[in-house]
Amino acid sequence: MILRRWLRLGVAAMAVVVAAAAAFVAIRLLGGETGGPAQVVNAPADVIARGKYLAEAADCAACHSAPVGAPLAGGLAMQTGFGTIYATNITPDPEDGIGRWSADDFWDALHDGLRRDGRQLYPAMPYTSYRGMTRADADAIYAWLMQQKPMKVANRPTELGFPYNLRIAMIGWNLLFLTNSIPASSAGSSAAWQRGRYLVDVLGHCGECHTPRGLLGEMELSRPLRGFAFGRVAAPDITPAGLASRGWSAASLGTYLGRGIARQGSAFAEMHQAVVLSTRNLSTDDNTAMVAYLLGDKPPPPATLPTIDPAAANALAEGAGRTSYVALCAGCHGLEGNGIPNTVVALRNNSTLRLADPQNLIVAMLDGIGPETFPHRAAMSAMPGFADKLSDEQAATLANYLRVVWGGQQPDVTAAAVRALR
Ligand code: HEC
Ligand code: HEC
Ligand code: HEC
Repeated sequence: MILRRWLRLGVAAMAVVVAAAAAFVAIRLLGGETGGPAQVVNAPADVIARGKYLAEAADCAACHSAPVGAPLAGGLAMQTGFGTIYATNITPDPEDGIGRWSADDFWDALHDGLRRDGRQLYPAMPYTSYRGMTRADADAIYAWLMQQKPMKVANRPTELGFPYNLRIAMIGWNLLFLTNSIPASSAGSSAAWQRGRYLVDVLGHCGECHTPRGLLGEMELSRPLRGFAFGRVAAPDITPAGLASRGWSAASLGTYLGRGIARQGSAFAEMHQAVVLSTRNLSTDDNTAMVAYLLGDKPPPPATLPTIDPAAANALAEGAGRTSYVALCAGCHGLEGNGIPNTVVALRNNSTLRLADPQNLIVAMLDGIGPETFPHRAAMSAMPGFADKLSDEQAATLANYLRVVWGGQQPDVTAAAVRALR
């Protein structure tokens, strides 16, 4: 996972933070524990089953399992602007995993970002979101994890340069930014909305990708879910207004989170994994609750698109966009952009074309998208990348044509914008 802009800590700011932290260091380092007996956890079957469900809703496996490797045994490399942080082994192996961790140790990690030895975790582990978890839910996840197969897979040390390698600096960061991710409950909202907020903001940690980040890598909680280009494919605005502006309804959003494919398109990049490992497993009630929170108690009506004649769109986009589309794309996406059910997504009304920011459209065109499987045995064929077939100008013209004809957007993509993303 690439989190390029994640944690853009300025060195000067770090110095201040380190200073602020210094006073706390001694206290925190005292009492740190690494030994102790292996824990034996006997929890009732229903608690363990609930723990599994919650761990999926919280998508622990997305980071704690390497692409090739044992589940939950760690190893996924998270690239940051400062170096690489590896997700750890959270199987119950006493040496390499969390086999000696008590339920209290585990709670401290999820709630306060603390390791068992008392040192700080980096917020690449999203304790900033999990902090809102109930103790009962954390205990259930712990009970389930402790039943998993212990794996002897050693943790890889972080590869961060000075001063980012100083975990103690996170004490200062936490003082500044570790707030309760869940604001006081808002009176009047439905029970489904409240449950949805817990699923989205806490367990699903959707904001870790979808909420803009400030200079010190903190989530800007004053602008929740407004969208953020944290990687090559940006996470769009998923506020009620943002979703409605791209035509999402409660029905299509529920389908997207459950299946990864809806009228507005298919989940790709990091979102594909979020659907396949996490949101697809939600119960019908929780899927409905997530949608209720995302769209709000009074969902704005989904925006509809004006019908534009392809020739007029071509003229507006000032070039041969339609010609490129017919030559390169229509074979799969169809002359009228209707796609092929369960094989190729439709581009007409596709939310990627309807985003004001063209980044995801340009990146999809340049890079292509690998073959992806989806729940319910659906599979999308691979889409090739066109970086070597389209010049910057041709790619911009094609993007503009698509934005006008099926996206309801302005033809404002420049060749420079394409070049910047190559
Ligand atoms: C977005 C990626 C991500 C997700 C999702 C995630 N983690 Fe982590 N986790 C990490 C990283 C990275 C670290 C190591 C951070 C460090 O070295 O400071 C970590 C560390 C931990 C640790 C500390 C382990 C140790 O040996 O110090 C525990 C416990 C943990 N995670 C549990 C969980 C659980 C349980 C979940 C799901 C509820 C979860 N994590 C979800 C990325 C993630
Ligand atoms: C070989 C078939 C094929 C060709 C040719 C093709 N695509 Fe795709 N395209 C796909 C498939 C399949 C997906 C869905 C991928 C997924 O999500 O797994 C897709 C997805 C997309 C997406 C992302 C939208 C979404 O909801 O997933 C965009 C944007 C896109 N294509 C644009 C284009 C453009 C522009 C061209 C021509 C330059 C093109 N495609 C050519 C098969 C194709
Ligand atoms: C690891 C980062 C990451 C996490 C976590 C994540 N998303 Fe996404 N999301 C993305 C990216 C990147 C895209 C853009 C690619 C796409 O459209 O499929 C996206 C797209 C979406 C879209 C489609 C928007 C549109 O108009 O096309 C929705 C809806 C969405 N996410 C909802 C969620 C929800 C709800 C959660 C939490 C349960 C979540 N996401 C968690 C990265 C993430």
